[in-house]
Amino acid sequence: MMPAVAVIVREMRAADVPAALDLLEEVAAEGVWLGTEPGFDRHRRGQYWLEGLADPTVSTLVVLDAAPGRLVGQGTVHVARYGVAELGMNLAADSRGRGLGGQLLDALLDAARARGAHKAVLQVWPHNEPAIRLYLSRGFVVEGRIRAHYRRASGLVWDAILMGLPLDPDLVDGSHGSGLPDAPGLPRSIRIADA
Ligand SMILES: CC(C)(COP(=O)(O)OP(=O)(O)OC[C@H]1O[C@@H](n2cnc3c(N)ncnc32)[C@H](O)[C@@H]1OP(=O)(O)O)[C@@H](O)C(=O)NCCC(=O)NCCS
Repeated sequence: MMPAVAVIVREMRAADVPAALDLLEEVAAEGVWLGTEPGFDRHRRGQYWLEGLADPTVSTLVVLDAAPGRLVGQGTVHVARYGVAELGMNLAADSRGRGLGGQLLDALLDAARARGAHKAVLQVWPHNEPAIRLYLSRGFVVEGRIRAHYRRASGLVWDAILMGLPLDPDLVDGSHGSGLPDAPGLPRSIRIADA
């Protein structure tokens, strides 16, 4: 892998929106990495980002190649009111495999912590090896596989992998939450009480 290069990771500005939409179109057109598919509503997505600039629960970051200042990456974190930060990110094809994803992910996790999130979560396609390796390298664990879940434009229905990372140190060893025992009807493989 090539070494990480000088890039700037910073909060999105309104002027970045057209380039970020172009990037999303490019990555969506690859057809195999994102939930977003070609033909998505550019206006709606642009509005979501613009509204996010003033929303304290959202942070949208961009990655700029330092030399020409080209926008080569974008990531968003949205912290739900129950404290879980949902992440999404994408890089231009010619900017992958040189560590930029790690820089962007670290900045997104910082943004999630700064917004008080106790946990980060994301979904990834089961075949997306670069993304899964990146998330594992930052401590995310696979929490499950949702089967036959997402209907694609092709008509096929894809599985997705759920991954999570506790951000609150008190949760690192896991919390069983309510303290109430698991229902006996749950499969043994996921019953905490029997662990
Ligand atoms: C996923 C993504 C953000 C990762 O960013 P990146 O900068 O390319 O990641 P890195 O270069 O740090 O590589 C991450 C890991 O994948 C490995 N990797 C990179 N390219 C790979 C490839 N083509 N095949 C297999 N592994 C690959 C790297 O070696 C690294 O693993 P390691 O830490 O064990 O060495 C980026 O590839 C991307 O934007 N992909 C398209 C959009 C996408 O998939 N978004 C995420 C949706 S959940």
